[in-house]
Amino acid sequence: MSTERVTGPDAKVPDPHVIAVLLGQHARVKGLFARMKATAGQDRQEAFGELRALLTAHETGEQTVLRPVSAEVVGEKIADARNQEEKEADKALAGLEKMDTTSPQFDAAFAQFEKSVLAHAEHEEAEEFPTVRAHCTDEELQEMGQHLLRADKIHPRTRLRCLRSGLGS
Ligand SMILES: [Fe+2]
Ligand SMILES: [Fe+2]
Repeated sequence: MSTERVTGPDAKVPDPHVIAVLLGQHARVKGLFARMKATAGQDRQEAFGELRALLTAHETGEQTVLRPVSAEVVGEKIADARNQEEKEADKALAGLEKMDTTSPQFDAAFAQFEKSVLAHAEHEEAEEFPTVRAHCTDEELQEMGQHLLRADKIHPRTRLRCLRSGLGS
């Protein structure tokens, strides 16, 4: 499952609030981690494939749509820390892709990867999402959600409007 799901019958296209989309993706990532633990063989390999695709789309979306806004309203230090964590997760994922998913080495590396990814998601949910939500109007958040679902780069105008609406708050 990846972002193409948004075109399906359970799509939430009319109201793709960026934070709701991102939280929904976090929930799906957690579900896939659980599935990795509960399955074996081919099923587990498939779950890993879905997790890889979802994480790649999710982190790319955050870097292109969310982070330019959060760098301004939350601060560059926090935005840089989140970008760095995503870079490291990317490297870890590339390492895992080369391993045999049935090997003990994979299990050990994957357990560490899960820990890092979940800690990263918690940082975002605690330090980043609430502030972005507070600084942008619903319309702006929906516009960002649309960009995210289309995997676009954020439009500079969206960014500027968000920043303006954050002034004095
Ligand atoms: Fe992230
Ligand atoms: Fe995230």
